[in-house]
Amino acid sequence: MKEKFYITTPIYYVNDVPHIGHAYTTIAADALARYYRLRGREVFFLTGTDENSQKNVDAAAKFGYDDIQNYLDVMSGKWKDAWRDLKITNNDFIRTTEERHKKGVEKFFKKVWDKGDIYQGEYEGLYCVSCEAFYKESDLIDGCCPIHKTKVQAIKEKNWFFKLTKYRQALLEHIEKNPGFIQPETRRNEVVSYVKNFMEDVSISRASMKWGIPVPTDQTQVLYVWFDALINYLTGIGYGWDDKKFDHLWPAEVHLVGKDIIKFHCALWPAMLLSAELPLPKSVFAHGFFTIDGEKMSKSLGNVVNPVEVADKYGLEPLRYYLLHEIHFGSDGDFSFAGLEQRYNGELANGIGNLTARVLAMTEKYFDGRVPKRAARDPLKHWDGYDRAMESLRLHEALQIVGEIVKDCDELIDREKPWTLAKTDREKLAEVLYTLLETLRHLALMLHPFMPETALKILTQLGLELPTDYDRAKQWGALETGTRIARGEPLFPRLAATK
Ligand code: MSP
Repeated sequence: MKEKFYITTPIYYVNDVPHIGHAYTTIAADALARYYRLRGREVFFLTGTDENSQKNVDAAAKFGYDDIQNYLDVMSGKWKDAWRDLKITNNDFIRTTEERHKKGVEKFFKKVWDKGDIYQGEYEGLYCVSCEAFYKESDLIDGCCPIHKTKVQAIKEKNWFFKLTKYRQALLEHIEKNPGFIQPETRRNEVVSYVKNFMEDVSISRASMKWGIPVPTDQTQVLYVWFDALINYLTGIGYGWDDKKFDHLWPAEVHLVGKDIIKFHCALWPAMLLSAELPLPKSVFAHGFFTIDGEKMSKSLGNVVNPVEVADKYGLEPLRYYLLHEIHFGSDGDFSFAGLEQRYNGELANGIGNLTARVLAMTEKYFDGRVPKRAARDPLKHWDGYDRAMESLRLHEALQIVGEIVKDCDELIDREKPWTLAKTDREKLAEVLYTLLETLRHLALMLHPFMPETALKILTQLGLELPTDYDRAKQWGALETGTRIARGEPLFPRLAATK
């Protein structure tokens, strides 16, 4: 039986359409999903929308919707459309206003309630609607939310609380015993410090909010949006509506999140799961944030980038390549159109595209379009590094390795000069061209998670299909002598022509 791999993105608020930051998380998850599918794992990739949030309700009012659900349906549809346009291969899409989610949340709440981990208390605090989180006076900068720089609301109400602090010790032990649980390491240190020194019980309901899932034991209140939203990782795979599916897929291998929501995922969420006596996810990976041309992306600056528009202009695959190469996964970075164009022209058009075109043209010219005699060789040394990079989510490193292989091939051509060998040494020429063609095959496999259509185009030009046996495909020499190649259109046409 295939080993499963369950990967998630955060579920996104629907008060606006996706921007490039949301697309970044989703594209990274998609690359990992495609990688593990190629490796033969049974992948389940979940994304969705977080709909029971105050800011969605505010947005519905702002845009003149009387019927909040109608607004949520329209907006959630726009997120689905964007992921379809970006060819994201999620297996399901969970919405927190769906009945299946509500049922699962009620089941989960009951578990935590029966455990005695929910109590009533008075909450007085400062609330940022954009973060959907409470702050202390000392957290604020000039009286405003430290992240959004907007005014916070003073809230005082009777709420239900979750005994988060009861799990302090258990959380610290789990983090200590499982070094891979929170990645990268800097984030782990941040969470440990928070859990040790700052974590308090949290209010998990709102009396003043009218939209959301009612607290099962107190219909006058709705559940706090984070308590409800985190449970999507369970309800999206059957919790409360298909036990068999749920038991098969849970726990998640990876929750992919931005660094902004690490505490919710690495403290509140595992504590909730411990309370409900469910296994904890294997890992939470927090990637960094990026700026646009050095500036924070914001509506007021007018620099919000729409990923679908960029993909229309530059091509979806160059966009995926650029994002996952440029912004080192786990660190902060910067997005710029100049940078995107530079990588397009350099690494894609002049690099991978040009190499593929040259190797195929030489095969046509010197071997009548057929793969020459197989050249024996050791396995390609880059695979270990590539797989290690992918397994530890250092996606940019995997792409650096691809870049090294392209460079090695270009150097081989410059060194051996096939056009001279054609006149002097046919045997050597065959060896060089076989090596280049077979290396292109490996390159296509490595590119597949990042640029699946490009990878397929390269394989098709080599007369091949996407392999089904990854370990075998990684061996040297799978390209058969005599295979007919089929030179195609340039992989990355010059940019001026696509604009
Ligand atoms: N609804 C919550 C998540 C609930 S998960 C149980 C939420 N939604 S969000 O719509 O605000 O999306 C936040 C996510 O978008 C971040 O965690 C991150 O993955 C992504 N990003 C938003 N802006 C980003 C950048 N500027 N750069 C990189 N990623 C960004 O929080």
